[in-house]
Amino acid sequence: MLANQRLLPLGFVPLLIGSLIWIGLSARGVEIRGTKTSTADTRIEDGLVAWERIYSVLTSPRCINCHTATNHPQQGDDRHRHFANVIRGPQGKGVPGLSCISCHQSANADSTGVPGGRNWHLAPLSMRWQDQNDQPLPSAVVCRSLIDRAKNGGLDGQALLKHHEEEPLVLWAWNPGRRLDGTMRTLPPLTHDDFVAATRQWINAGMPCPR
Ligand code: HEC
Ligand code: HEC
Repeated sequence: MLANQRLLPLGFVPLLIGSLIWIGLSARGVEIRGTKTSTADTRIEDGLVAWERIYSVLTSPRCINCHTATNHPQQGDDRHRHFANVIRGPQGKGVPGLSCISCHQSANADSTGVPGGRNWHLAPLSMRWQDQNDQPLPSAVVCRSLIDRAKNGGLDGQALLKHHEEEPLVLWAWNPGRRLDGTMRTLPPLTHDDFVAATRQWINAGMPCPR
């Protein structure tokens, strides 16, 4: 009993220190909150910069040739209509007798100039990144469509990141093989690593879209 009473005042010391720290922090509260807001702002700014890098890849020929708004794929850096009157078909896989995979194998066939990749077919119309006149859609429009799970195949941020990291048709763009004349197809404007890093940065910033 007696020992306890003597110890009691000592117990106040940590409490007192704690209170002083708390008061000190509260006094700086406004400043702390102010810093937080500007950190969030820069994060969104950085996210928007990262998005523009992503957009530059999405709208480059190797990607956008499959993300058309019309009933046919495109080919080449000038994104001209696919030869042989190839058409989209009900599931983007062509039509019987002229299906994509009757020509496009799972790997590039460099001797014949036919590019290849697993399950080669057109992206659905909800994932189009250009208009009927083959002009790339504005950055803000593509961005909003990419984050819209009703349009993007139900992908959340992590699934989008995984798609950019691993999807064979995405990876193909960085290994697009040779054209019929034997020259290499051109690559997207970023390396695959930089593209994935930009996607990660954009997702961490909350997937902001330009207005
Ligand atoms: C008759 C064979 C054939 C069929 C069928 C076919 N393709 Fe192709 N495709 C080719 C050849 C050959 C090339 C290469 C042309 C070139 O590089 O000039 C090509 C190129 C492409 C490219 C261009 C790659 C690039 O970025 O330049 C895309 C995209 C493509 N095909 C998509 C499709 C889709 C989608 C289908 C089905 C709806 C399909 N193709 C059906 C033979 C075919
Ligand atoms: C050979 C055709 C083809 C090429 C080339 C291609 N895609 Fe796609 N893409 C598709 C198809 C098909 C889907 C739909 C996938 C599904 O439903 O499983 C798709 C879906 C996507 C999606 C899902 C979300 C959305 O709203 O579009 C993203 C993101 C995407 N592609 C990115 C890319 C990028 C980046 C590249 C180039 C580096 C690329 N694609 C090249 C055919 C292609």
